[in-house]
Amino acid sequence: MFSLIKRAKRFKIDSSYGEFSCKEGETVLAAANRNGVYIPHQCTVGTCNSCSCKINGLDVLACRYKPQSDCQLKYQDETLFKTELIESSHIGESIYQVKILLDDKHQYPIGSYINVYVDRHSKSSRKYSVVENGNSVVTIHVKRHKYGVISNPLTSMNSGDVLYISEASGNYILPSNNRSYESCYGFANGSAFGVTASIVSDFLTENTDSNATLIALSRNKETNLYYEKVSKKIMDKHSNRIKIITKDFEEVLNQIDNSCPSNSMIFVCGSNDINKAFNLRKDNIESNKSILIQESF
Ligand code: FES
Repeated sequence: MFSLIKRAKRFKIDSSYGEFSCKEGETVLAAANRNGVYIPHQCTVGTCNSCSCKINGLDVLACRYKPQSDCQLKYQDETLFKTELIESSHIGESIYQVKILLDDKHQYPIGSYINVYVDRHSKSSRKYSVVENGNSVVTIHVKRHKYGVISNPLTSMNSGDVLYISEASGNYILPSNNRSYESCYGFANGSAFGVTASIVSDFLTENTDSNATLIALSRNKETNLYYEKVSKKIMDKHSNRIKIITKDFEEVLNQIDNSCPSNSMIFVCGSNDINKAFNLRKDNIESNKSILIQESF
């Protein structure tokens, strides 16, 4: 007797990391994971760009793209630089400050991100924002996770150990336009607080008549010591021109909805839900003559 159950179609994906099958309606990333093929990824919902690749020559996100036929997968080419760890030190809770040696041929602006590989032959990498740079050193803040395939080895390395970094990319940097802003707001949570504090600090240095507010978005007490240490540094530099507060995320959104800051630069960096909530309010923010600058969009 013939079965009446319709079998889902399967497509063949050919990649330099092996051939694997993808079910009809399945994303390339899900199929790769199911078949044990590693594609670099983070958010899995189409916002971080780390799974970008080429399918039959077209730029796509592996976490969103669902093939309709057999196809060829290629990773985006990335130029990596061999370098070494200078030091890794614990800042607070699960967050570490990692300093990496830089050559002087490349620019790594504060807020841009770099892809870090601890093993050149592995496809595993993680994006980190540049928190400080200068004197041939780039500093990033790294949060250790229980299963952090990059963060755990990176924070356990010794001075002089080899690692690989990409060129810097991303738009989460202080824009160099001529418009002046009355104030600057930085909203961040987790290890993104450090990079946001650095950008806000640079804003104050460049806009000597302006003030700033740095808001640690708090939904738990997990990163309080880290927030305190980062805050102390920026307070020491700009004490009378910066206010640093911890605020509940929902409260912040209500405030943006009801009295959005005008003529301000607004920086947002943190988890996906935070970035998405601000992105939904972009029109409102811009209609108040402010500018929204985010890490993941
Ligand atoms: S993992 Fe696909 S965009 Fe983030």
